[in-house]
Amino acid sequence: MARKRQSSSQTTLPTLCIIFSLFFNASALHVDDDFQLLLSFKASINDPLHFLSDWTPANTNFCNWHGITCNNNNDSSRVISVELSGKNISGKISSPIFRLPGIESIDLSSNQLTGGIPTDMFSAASNSLRYLNLSNNNLTGPVPTGSVFSLETLDLSNNMLSGKIPRDIGEFSGLKFLDLGGNVLSGEIPNSVSNISGLVYFTLASNQLVGKIPRELCLMKSLKWIYLGYNNFSGEIPTDIGELTSLQHLDLVYNKLTGQIPPSIGGLTELRYFFLYQNRLTGPVPQAVFGLKKLVSLDFSDNYLSGEIPEAVSQLRQLEILHLFSNNFTGKIPTGLASLPRLQVLQLWSNNFSGEIPRDLGRRNNLTILDLSTNRLVGEIPGGLCDSGRLFKLILFSNSLQGGVPMSLSQCKSLRRVRLQNNGLSGELSADFTELPLVYFLDISGNNFSGEIGDRRWNMPSLQMLNLARNRFSGPLSEDFGSEKLENLVASENRFSGDIPRSFGKFLRLMQLDLSSNELSGEIPEELSSCERLVSLDLSHNQLTGEIPVSLARMPVLGELDLSDNELSGEIPRNLGRVESLVQVNVSHNHLHGSLPSTGAFLAINASAVAGNSLCDGDTPSGLPPCKKGLIRNAVRLTWWLVLITCLLVALVVVVVLVVFVRRRKGVLELKRVENEDGIWELQFFDQSKLAKSVTITDILLSAREGNPIIDSKLVVKKMSDNVNSISPSVWSDVEEFGKIRHRNVIKLIGMCRSQKGGYLVYEYCEGKLLSEVLRSLSWERRRKIAIGIAKALRFLHCCCSLSVVVGRLSPEEIVVDEKDEPRLSLRAPGMMCSESKGFTSSAYVAPGKPH
Ligand SMILES: *[C@@H]1O[C@H](CO)[C@@H](O)[C@H](O)[C@H]1NC(C)=O
Ligand SMILES: *[C@@H]1O[C@H](CO)[C@@H](O)[C@H](O)[C@H]1NC(C)=O
Ligand SMILES: *[C@@H]1O[C@H](CO)[C@@H](O)[C@H](O)[C@H]1NC(C)=O
Ligand SMILES: *[C@@H]1O[C@H](CO)[C@@H](O)[C@H](O)[C@H]1NC(C)=O
Ligand SMILES: *[C@@H]1O[C@H](CO)[C@@H](O)[C@H](O)[C@H]1NC(C)=O
Ligand SMILES: *[C@@H]1O[C@H](CO)[C@@H](O)[C@H](O)[C@H]1NC(C)=O
Ligand SMILES: *[C@@H]1O[C@H](CO)[C@@H](O)[C@H](O)[C@H]1NC(C)=O
Ligand SMILES: *[C@@H]1O[C@H](CO)[C@@H](O)[C@H](O)[C@H]1NC(C)=O
Ligand SMILES: *[C@@H]1O[C@H](CO)[C@@H](O)[C@H](O)[C@H]1NC(C)=O
Ligand SMILES: *[C@@H]1O[C@H](CO)[C@@H](O)[C@H](O)[C@H]1NC(C)=O
Ligand SMILES: *[C@@H]1O[C@H](CO)[C@@H](O)[C@H](O)[C@H]1NC(C)=O
Ligand SMILES: *[C@@H]1O[C@H](CO)[C@@H](O)[C@H](O)[C@H]1NC(C)=O
Repeated sequence: MARKRQSSSQTTLPTLCIIFSLFFNASALHVDDDFQLLLSFKASINDPLHFLSDWTPANTNFCNWHGITCNNNNDSSRVISVELSGKNISGKISSPIFRLPGIESIDLSSNQLTGGIPTDMFSAASNSLRYLNLSNNNLTGPVPTGSVFSLETLDLSNNMLSGKIPRDIGEFSGLKFLDLGGNVLSGEIPNSVSNISGLVYFTLASNQLVGKIPRELCLMKSLKWIYLGYNNFSGEIPTDIGELTSLQHLDLVYNKLTGQIPPSIGGLTELRYFFLYQNRLTGPVPQAVFGLKKLVSLDFSDNYLSGEIPEAVSQLRQLEILHLFSNNFTGKIPTGLASLPRLQVLQLWSNNFSGEIPRDLGRRNNLTILDLSTNRLVGEIPGGLCDSGRLFKLILFSNSLQGGVPMSLSQCKSLRRVRLQNNGLSGELSADFTELPLVYFLDISGNNFSGEIGDRRWNMPSLQMLNLARNRFSGPLSEDFGSEKLENLVASENRFSGDIPRSFGKFLRLMQLDLSSNELSGEIPEELSSCERLVSLDLSHNQLTGEIPVSLARMPVLGELDLSDNELSGEIPRNLGRVESLVQVNVSHNHLHGSLPSTGAFLAINASAVAGNSLCDGDTPSGLPPCKKGLIRNAVRLTWWLVLITCLLVALVVVVVLVVFVRRRKGVLELKRVENEDGIWELQFFDQSKLAKSVTITDILLSAREGNPIIDSKLVVKKMSDNVNSISPSVWSDVEEFGKIRHRNVIKLIGMCRSQKGGYLVYEYCEGKLLSEVLRSLSWERRRKIAIGIAKALRFLHCCCSLSVVVGRLSPEEIVVDEKDEPRLSLRAPGMMCSESKGFTSSAYVAPGKPH
C-alpha cells in the first residue's frame, strides 16, 4: 500500500483536486511522490479515450492504474514503468513524469503529443531511467541536452524535432539504442557520438543532416545497425568502415555520397543488409563485397558504379535480393548468380550488361522478380526462369533477345507482369501463353512475333493492359481476351485483317484502343460506343469502309479520335463537334464529303487532320474550300431544303406575331417614369426577371452620381454619352434590339434609362475577372475552354441572332471570365459596332463587370 494513502484520505476530494492542480502547475516542485507526480502528469495532457480514467486522487492505489507498473517491494512501492503507447494522448509533455524516483521505462510513443520536450528533461530525470520512447508524436523544438547515464534506449523518432544534434550527445554513454530518425534535424553528426561506445542500433535516417559521415563512427565497435539514409550527407564512405565487425545492417541510401566503395568493407563479415542506393558513388564494386557471405540483400542501385560483376558473386549463398540497376555496369551477367539457392529478386536494369542471360538462371533459384531490361543482352530467354513456380514479374524489354517465348514460361501460372517489348523475339504465341490466369500487364510490342491469334482461346481474366504492337501478327483479331478488366488494347502496326470485332463493345473499362496500321476492313462497329471510358481511339491506316458511326458522339470521355487513312465515306456526323471531351480529331485521307462541323474539336482543327477528303468548310481555319451553299446537286436534298424553308417561314410568322403581342404587354409592364430636375427619366427593361424589376430610376441615378456602378452586386450601370443630342432616335430602338440578345457567353443588357440629358444602360453584374487580367496565368486547358466560349458567342452574334450585330474589335478588356472559366462578352454598343458614325464613341461604354 502506498505511503501517501492516509494523508490524502483525510482531505475532501474537490479541495484536493484544486490543491493538486495549483501546486503542480507551479514550476518549483520538490515532492518526490509518485502519486502526485503521476496526477500532475495527467493534468498536463488530454486523454480522449479515457484510458487514464482511473488515475484519480480518490484511487490512491496508483500501482494498479492503467499503464503503471510498480516494483514488488511491499514496503515502498515505486513506479518503475509508465506505458501509454498509442492511447491518443495529446497535449504537452511535462517534466514531472521524468522525476519519478524509481522510474526505469517511459513509453509515450504513438500519441498526439505536441510542443517541445522539456529542456530540463534529462537533468531532472531520475538516474534509474533506462528506456524512453517518445517516437511517433508531433513533438517540436530541439533534442534536449544533458544526459542520464543509465539510459540505454532513446527513441525520439518520427516527430518534428529540429535544430542540430546536441554536441554533447556523447554523454549518453550508456546508450545501446539511439533513434532520431524521421525528424527535421540539420547540421552535422557531432564527433562526440563515438563516445557512446556501446551503441548497437544507430539511426538518424530521414532528417536534413549534412556534412561527412564522421570517421569516428568506425570506433563504435558494438554497432550492429546503422541507418543514415535520406539525408544530405556528402563526401566519401569512411575508409575504415570495415572495422565495424559486428555490423549487420548498413544503410546510407538517398544521400550525396561520392567516391568509391572502400575495399575495407570486406571486414563487415556479419553484414546482412547493405544499402547504398541513390548516391553518387563511382568506380567498381570492390571484390571484397563478394566475400560477405551473410549478405541477404544488396542494393547499390542508382549510382555511377561501373566495371563488371565477378563470378565470385556465387559465394553469397544467403543472397535473396540483388539490386544493381541504374548504374554503368558492363560485361556479362555472371553465371554464378544461377547457383544462388535463395535468390528471389534480381534487378539489373539500365546498365550496360551484354552477352547472354545465364542459361540456368531460375533453375536453382527461388526467383519472384527478374528485371534485366535496358541492357545489351542477346541470345534466348532461358527456359528455367519460372522453375520456382513463384516468378511474377518478368521484365526483359529493350535488349536484343531472340528466339521464342520458352514453353515453360507459357505455363508459368504465377506471372502477373510481363514486359518483353523491343527485342527481336519471334515465333507464335503458344496456346498456354494466352491463358495465364494472373497476368494483368502484357507488353510484347516491337518484336517479330507472328501467326494468328484470333483462332486461339484467350483466357486472361486479369488482363488490363495488352500491347501487341509492331509485330507480324496476322489474321483476324481475337474476339475476346477473356478479361473484362481491359483498359489498354494496342495492336497497331501488325497485319491484322477482317472486321473490328463487335464484341469489343464489351470492354467497359477500355481507355485506349489502338488498332492503327493494320489491314482491317468492314465498318466501324456501332458497339464501340459502349466503351464508355474510352479516351483514345485510333483506327487510322486501315481499310475501313462505311460511315463514321453517329454513336461515337455519345462516348462521354472520348478525347482523341484518329480515323485517318481509311476508306470511310459519307459526312462527318454533326454531333461529333458537340462532344465536349474531344480534343483531337483526325479524319484525313478518307472519302468524306459535306461540310466540317464548326464546333468543338473541329473549331480550330489542323489542316492536316481533314486533308485528303472532299470536305468543305463553313468558317473554321481548316484550309478547306468554303462550302458553296447554292450548289446543291441532289434533287432529294433540294426538296428537303424547300420543306425546311417553308417551316422556317411559318415559324417566323408565328414569332413575329408573338413578339408584337409580348411587346405590347411589355410596354405596359416595364416602363417606369420619374420626373426630376433633368426632366423626365424613363426606365425600360428588356428582361422579365425580378432582378430587373426591383431596380428603380433613383437607384440608377444615385449609383451614377456616386460613381459606384454596381447596384446590389446584381446590376451594373453604364453611362451612354454626355451629349445626348448626338444620340439619334434610331439608337434607342437599336438598344432595344440589343437588349434581346440572350446567350450564355454574352453579358445581358437588362434595361435602359434615359432622359433628354443623357442615358444609362443597365447590365447584369457578372462576377469574375477580366480576361486581360488572367490571360497570363492560364493553362492550355483553360485557354481552350475560354476560346471556345468566345467563339460560341461570336458565332451566335454573327449568324444566329436576328440582329445584324457585327463585332469588329474584340479585346481582353471586354471579356469577363467567371470561376468556371466561362467567358462572357460585354458588347459595347448595340447596332453601332461597325459604324461609329451613328454617334457612339467607344469610350462611352466601359466594360461592365469589372470588380472594384
Ligand atoms: C508482499 O506482501 C504479500 C501479501 O500482501 C506477500 O504474500 C508477499 O510475500 C510480500 N512480499 C515481500 C517481498 O515482502
Ligand atoms: C485517435 O485520434 C485520431 C485523430 O486525432 C482519430 O482519427 C483516431 O480515430 C483516434 N483513435 C482512436 C482509437 O480513437
Ligand atoms: C517505440 O515505440 C514504437 C511504437 O510505439 C515501437 O515501434 C518502437 O519499436 C519503440 N522503440 C523501441 C526502441 O522500443
Ligand atoms: C503535427 O503538427 C502539425 C502542425 O504543427 C500538423 O499540421 C500535423 O497535422 C500534426 N500531425 C499529427 C500527426 O498530428
Ligand atoms: C569522450 O569522452 C571523454 C571522457 O569521457 C572526453 O574526454 C572526450 O572529449 C569525449 N570525446 C568527445 C569527442 O566528446
Ligand atoms: C539536400 O540539399 C538540397 C540542396 O543542397 C536541398 O534542396 C534538399 O532539400 C536537401 N534534402 C534534404 C533531405 O534535406
Ligand atoms: C554503354 O557503353 C557504351 C560504350 O561502352 C557507352 O557509350 C554508353 O554510354 C554506355 N551506356 C550507359 C547507359 O552507360
Ligand atoms: C559508363 O561507362 C562507359 C565506359 O565503360 C563510359 O564511357 C561512360 O561515360 C559511363 N557512363 C556514365 C553515365 O558514367
Ligand atoms: C523462396 O521464397 C519464398 C518467398 O517468396 C520463401 O517463403 C521460401 O522460403 C523461399 N525458399 C527458399 C529455398 O529460399
Ligand atoms: C523477323 O523475322 C523474319 C523471318 O521470320 C526475318 O526475315 C526478319 O529479319 C526478322 N526481323 C527482325 C527485326 O528480326
Ligand atoms: C498540324 O499538325 C502537324 C502534324 O501533326 C504539325 O506538324 C503542325 O505543327 C500542326 N500545325 C498546327 C498549326 O498546329
Ligand atoms: C492526321 O493524320 C495524317 C495521316 O495519318 C497525318 O499525316 C497528320 O499528321 C495527322 N494530323 C494531325 C494533326 O494529327
